[in-house]
Amino acid sequence: MRGTTVITGADGYLGRRLAAALLDDGDDDLILAVRAASATELDGKRARLAEELGPDAVGRTRCVAADVRHDSLLTDVDPGVVTRIVHGAAVTRFNVEHDVAADVNVAGTVRLRAFAARCENLRRFALLSTLYAAGEHQGDIAEERLPSAGFVNHYEWSKWAAEDQLLGAAREMPVSVLRLPTVVADDDSGHVTQYNVFHNTLKLFHYGLLSLLPGDEKTPLSLATADFTVSAVTRLLDPAVADGVYHVCPDPAETPTLGELVDLAFTVFERDAGFRRRGLIRPVPCDRESFDDLLHAATGLRAGPLHQSLASVSPFAAQLYLPKTFRNEALRAAWPAYAAPDPYALTEATCTRLVTSKWGRRPEETS
Ligand SMILES: NC(=O)c1ccc[n+]([C@@H]2O[C@H](COP(=O)([O-])OP(=O)(O)OC[C@H]3O[C@@H](n4cnc5c(N)ncnc54)[C@H](OP(=O)(O)O)[C@@H]3O)[C@@H](O)[C@H]2O)c1
Repeated sequence: MRGTTVITGADGYLGRRLAAALLDDGDDDLILAVRAASATELDGKRARLAEELGPDAVGRTRCVAADVRHDSLLTDVDPGVVTRIVHGAAVTRFNVEHDVAADVNVAGTVRLRAFAARCENLRRFALLSTLYAAGEHQGDIAEERLPSAGFVNHYEWSKWAAEDQLLGAAREMPVSVLRLPTVVADDDSGHVTQYNVFHNTLKLFHYGLLSLLPGDEKTPLSLATADFTVSAVTRLLDPAVADGVYHVCPDPAETPTLGELVDLAFTVFERDAGFRRRGLIRPVPCDRESFDDLLHAATGLRAGPLHQSLASVSPFAAQLYLPKTFRNEALRAAWPAYAAPDPYALTEATCTRLVTSKWGRRPEETS
């Protein structure tokens, strides 16, 4: 049955890809909710989305301003027509301040839940969360509501708290929590358009700015592409799939460890003559105390590439000392076409393109 799907954060990295995927899959109308402080900003975002989504979007999409910090969000949307909500809007920096994370990521979810409560035809309210809502839990992590075990940064905490707020309403509305992995590339070719802690850490290693490896080498790291993630989310939004918590990630058995990934990255780096000339050695694993000492020393340095890059790495580094395995049985059962990217091939392709493009500073040749 044709319905209407609201996507928040619709112009974000995943939001706009999900909009394209939902236009392709099914015939829902889409309400693309974006943060816009003025009519001019909204016009700009609307034009960019229209250009990106192309002719398929004409007549099926409406772009509206919706800041999740405001109680009055989505006042120009008729709740009666809304059948699905995908909540992707969030501040996604790992170094987000506590009050910002609390207002946007947690209270924003609660405000959207209040809107959802007025949608009498709602069939699915899906929150895009993160695997690291598991925070300081270690070992096997099940696809279920998690108690708090502490968190290494406010981003993790806020995504857990948003989940908790939503799962607390699971008796009143059809709620799903989709915990996403670290997206390291757009697709299997390793093309990167959104840079995060994965890329920034590799950049530090490549330029010789970090010679210590924070973390336990045996910590598994769940990596994926935007293509895989968006395909999984699209499938999990299907009315045939049950509500619940899903880990959108490769199988535990196909999840490489931190040590394996760093080795593979250096194998790629060493193919580059410029890198070989620098004669850098592979980073030495260090305990958490030594890494904290390095961070402490770096805060004394003036703003520069080291300080900037460490600022991106440090809010996540503590997670690398907390090995955990994300079970994905519910995802696999719900998605017969499940096919995660080969993490080794993906890492190799991504590292190769990072080196060639100098982490996005040099335009890549198009074939
Ligand atoms: N990409 C990943 O690797 C990854 C991994 C795990 C989980 N996730 C989750 O997936 C979701 C989408 O991630 P993403 O990578 O697409 O993030 P993104 O590119 O940073 O997009 C976030 C979106 O949220 C919007 N937003 C921020 N503050 C807002 C506010 N106050 N009101 C309304 N919208 C607001 C942003 O708009 P502005 O840009 O205009 O502020 C942007 O459109 C997030 O919830 C994230 O936590 C992503």
